Amino acid sequence: MSKPYVYVTRKLPEELLHVLSQTAEVECWEETDKPVPREILLEKSRNADGLLTMLSDKVDKELLEQAASLKVVANLAVGYDNIDLEEAETRNVIVCNTPDVLTDATADLAFALLMAAARRIPEADQYVKKDKWHGWAPFMFAGADVHKKTLGIIGMGRIGTAVAKRAAGFDMEILYHNRSRKKEIEQDLGVKYAEKKELLEKADFVCVVAPLTTETRGMIGKGELEQMKKSAYLINVSRGPVVDEKALIEAMQNEVIAGAGLDVFEQEPIRAEHPLLKFPQVVALPHIGSATTATREEMAELCARNIAAVLKGEKAETPLN
Ligand code: DGY
Repeated sequence: MSKPYVYVTRKLPEELLHVLSQTAEVECWEETDKPVPREILLEKSRNADGLLTMLSDKVDKELLEQAASLKVVANLAVGYDNIDLEEAETRNVIVCNTPDVLTDATADLAFALLMAAARRIPEADQYVKKDKWHGWAPFMFAGADVHKKTLGIIGMGRIGTAVAKRAAGFDMEILYHNRSRKKEIEQDLGVKYAEKKELLEKADFVCVVAPLTTETRGMIGKGELEQMKKSAYLINVSRGPVVDEKALIEAMQNEVIAGAGLDVFEQEPIRAEHPLLKFPQVVALPHIGSATTATREEMAELCARNIAAVLKGEKAETPLN
């Protein structure tokens, strides 16, 4: 009997896919940095028993309808808004993501963005490298304090909790808003639940970690930005569309808030001419929340194990359905 066929939508190191190669014939898209064109993804998925996808690949109704032999999709991300989970479910396709293994790396990045925005690190770095530094000055790149300030976390899942742990080390007061109360975390970490409005009004830093769903799309818009303190910063490490970018541009123009740290955007990759990138008080990163070598390796290996398990008729480690 021939081996099942698995298509991987980026070039990944062979050793990370070792477990999978033992069970399946594995083909990777030839590029590491560029996404597979849609037509090729559709063509490959027509014969695929498994797909290892990136968050930039759309696994939608069109794809699922014509992928008659597809049994499993493993997405190299914890977020899975690029996948039509309902459609997958009706077609008995198991969908897996990569929770846990990226929690700490993503929380580290969220905190790095917060620090970078507050202390103006990218601006100061460019100042030195562009040879503009000609003398010390008492208020040169004076930023905002982080220690002992109030952090508001929107979305208290695994990553939100890990961000709270880091903030506790900075003696921050921590508020959170979530669909459900997390009494255990409140007790363990001394964080307090707040309604969204209260959190926005009190926080010096608002960190968005909630996944993109129909409920969270556009959840930070003009009204929410206006509820924030003028001195506050917005940090987004979840998905771009959770924040209304047009409203954020206006908020920056009108100094409604002090700044933002963004790892994610409505349209990725964002282009340099985008109005949001003109503001020095906006720190922008190319969606690198979980991008440490060790974490990305673990994510790829987890995807490989998940696909191999399903193709062998076993239970996946981290199924979503
Ligand atoms: C994820 O895994 O969903 C993150 O956005 C990756 O950085």
